[in-house]
Amino acid sequence: MIDYDDLRQRVVAVAEGETDAIALMATMVCEVHHADARFDWTGFYRVVGHEILKIGPYQGGHGCLTIPFSRGVCGAAARTRTAQRVADVETFEGHIACSASTRSELVLPVFNGEGRLIAVFDIDSDQPDAFTPADEAALSGLLSAVFERVRT
Ligand code: SME
Repeated sequence: MIDYDDLRQRVVAVAEGETDAIALMATMVCEVHHADARFDWTGFYRVVGHEILKIGPYQGGHGCLTIPFSRGVCGAAARTRTAQRVADVETFEGHIACSASTRSELVLPVFNGEGRLIAVFDIDSDQPDAFTPADEAALSGLLSAVFERVRT
């Protein structure tokens, strides 16, 4: 289990004074991905245009470049603006398998300081049922703290 207080202090310290969304995404991905061996792919998909997600900063193997809001776990998080914690990706209708080894996922919506959906944050694990409600709560809080300083 991650020491989320420690992670939060690190991210907030590194991101101090930064308001550029991509710089913040890159920093967040790096810190989160290396914080826990459960995390095999960690990255952002950015909202671009009408109901389209495009790959943003990530760590891990290749991610799909474009995901419509209508598809996959990332699309569901963007469409519903709610967290998607999927214990077994094979049971998720329409799951997009960027990597055959992925077993579970946590995808969180990312809002800027104006409450606008700017991205989703996707963590994939090769372990089944890797993510807990505590992961979801802590990472959602961290995303709010980091991206509230971004304005459109
Ligand atoms: N599995 C995701 C797609 C993104 S990749 O796995 C990196 C989904 O179904 O939304």
